[in-house]
Amino acid sequence: MILDPCVGHGIFVEKLIESGIARKQIVAYDINSDFKSEIQKLGVKFKVQDTLLTLFPDSYNEFDFILGNPPYLNKASTYVRKNKVKLRSLYGKINAHETYSMFIVNSIWRLKEGGKLGFITSDSFLTLSTHTKLRKFILNNCLINQILLAPKNLFDNQDVSTSPVIIMLTKCTGKSNKNLRQNNEMKIIPRVRREAEYKNPSKIHKIIQKKYHLLPFNIFFTDIEEEIIDLFEQSPRLEEYVKGFIGMHTHNNLKYIAAVEGTDLAQIFKNRNQKIQEEENKHRIITKKDLNTETWKSYLKRGGADQYYRPIMEALEWGNNSIPIYDIPKNVPFEEEGIVVSGVSSRLAARYMPKGCYWDSNKAIGFIIKTDSISIEYTLGLLNSSLYNYLAKGIINNTNSIQLTGIHALPFILPDNETIEKVEKYVKIILRNKRKDQNYDYKKEQKQIDNIIFDFYSKTFHFTKDLKKKLDDRYSVYRNDQSKIGD
Ligand SMILES: C[S@@+](CC[C@H](N)C(=O)[O-])C[C@H]1O[C@@H](n2cnc3c(N)ncnc32)[C@H](O)[C@@H]1O
Repeated sequence: MILDPCVGHGIFVEKLIESGIARKQIVAYDINSDFKSEIQKLGVKFKVQDTLLTLFPDSYNEFDFILGNPPYLNKASTYVRKNKVKLRSLYGKINAHETYSMFIVNSIWRLKEGGKLGFITSDSFLTLSTHTKLRKFILNNCLINQILLAPKNLFDNQDVSTSPVIIMLTKCTGKSNKNLRQNNEMKIIPRVRREAEYKNPSKIHKIIQKKYHLLPFNIFFTDIEEEIIDLFEQSPRLEEYVKGFIGMHTHNNLKYIAAVEGTDLAQIFKNRNQKIQEEENKHRIITKKDLNTETWKSYLKRGGADQYYRPIMEALEWGNNSIPIYDIPKNVPFEEEGIVVSGVSSRLAARYMPKGCYWDSNKAIGFIIKTDSISIEYTLGLLNSSLYNYLAKGIINNTNSIQLTGIHALPFILPDNETIEKVEKYVKIILRNKRKDQNYDYKKEQKQIDNIIFDFYSKTFHFTKDLKKKLDDRYSVYRNDQSKIGD
C-alpha cells in the first residue's frame, strides 16, 4: 500500500502508475476537494481530508510506502494559526512549527514497521535548532537511508524559494532496534546543481547514523569533514569558558533609547526626525558627554557583520522614572567588560564590549570570559576567525540569526601561551586601528589570525588542506568570492 498524503495534481501518482505499480495499491489524500476528479480519473483511491488532523487508531502502521511533497506553511500561516490547538496537542511534543515537519511525523506514524518514506521538503529541518526534537524523533524511529540536497532553484518557476531536500527513511522503532539504527549507513548527498545528477551525484558521503547524535542539537549535517565531527565530539563547549547572557527589554525603545551624537545612527535618527512632526515620536540624540554621566548607560542592541570594534551608538536612559519600567534579568553581569556578539548577522561577528554596557534581548548578546587562561583579545580573534565562522554559520546555523545556545555549543580548546600571544598581537593591532578608523581594513591581520587558529586546532584534529581552502574561500573576511558567508 502506497500513500501520497498531500497529492495535489498527482505528479507522483502518475509516475507510480507509469512505472507499473497497480492502481489498487495507491491511496491519495488532499485537503482540497478540487483535486478529487483529477485524481479519481487516475483510477486510484482518493480521500478529501486534512491528513495532519485526521488520525484514527487504524491510521497508524498502515502503509508500506509514503511519498510526497508536503505543503510548506509556517507558524504565521492561516492554516497553522487556525488549527494551533489541535496541531499542538498532536505534534507539540515533537514539532508544531511548519506543516512539512508535521507531515514527516504524521507519515512516520502511518508507516508500517519497515515501511519507507520519501519526501521532498524544505531543508531547514536539517540544521535549525527549532527542529532539534524532530531530528531526535527521526533518529529514534527510523533508519535514514538517504538525504539528498536538491537544486536550490528547483521550485523557482512556482514562486517558491525554499532550498529543498529529498529524504528517504525506513521506519525502525523500538529499543531493541537501537543498534541497528545507530550503525545504519546513510547516503548523504551534498547539494546537486541539476535534477539529472540525482542518479549519479558526484559526491556521496557514507556516514554512520550514530554520527548524527554527536553534533550540538543533533544537526543532520550534509557536507562536513570527519575532523570537524571529531572536534565537536572531543572538545569541551565554549560555554565552559565564555558565557553569554540574554539581555533586557525597555518596552519602549523610542522613549528610552537615544543615539550618541557623531555616530552613523545619530545621523539616521536626525534624518528621520526631520520628517516627523510630533515631538514625542522623534528619536533622541545625546552628546558624548551626556553618555559619561550617571543619567545614561551605554546600550548594545544592534547586530550586523562588524567585527572587533564599533563605537557605542546608543544610550539607555537611566533615571528613577525609567529604570522601574525595564525588564532587567537578574544574574546577568551587565556593566562588566566582555564581548558582544551579533545575534543577527551574515557572519559570526564578535566585538569588544567596554565596561558599563547594557544590552538588548535579541540582536546583540553580551559575553563574559569565565577563565583567566584566555583574554578578551584572544576570544575576539578566535570567534572572528574563519574556522569559527564555519563552525557557527556553516554547521550550527546557516541562517542569518545566531542563537545564544548555538554559540555556547561551539567547541573550544584551551590554547597554549604561544598561540594566545600571537593572536593577541594581531587583535590589538586591529583594535587600535579600528578605534581610529572604524573602516580600517584588517584583512591582512585576520589572515594571520586565521592561520594561527587553524594550525593550533590542526595539531589535535589533523585538519586538511581542503578544509583550509574551504575556510579561506567561503568563511574568511578576505575570501575572493563575494557571496554571503556560508552560501
Ligand atoms: C506542494 S503540494 C503537492 C503537489 C503534488 N505533489 C502535485 O503533484 O501537485 C501540497 C498539497 O498539499 C495539500 N495540503 C495542504 N495542507 C494539507 C493537509 N493538512 N492535509 C492534506 N493535504 C494538504 C495542498 O492542497 C496541496 O495540494
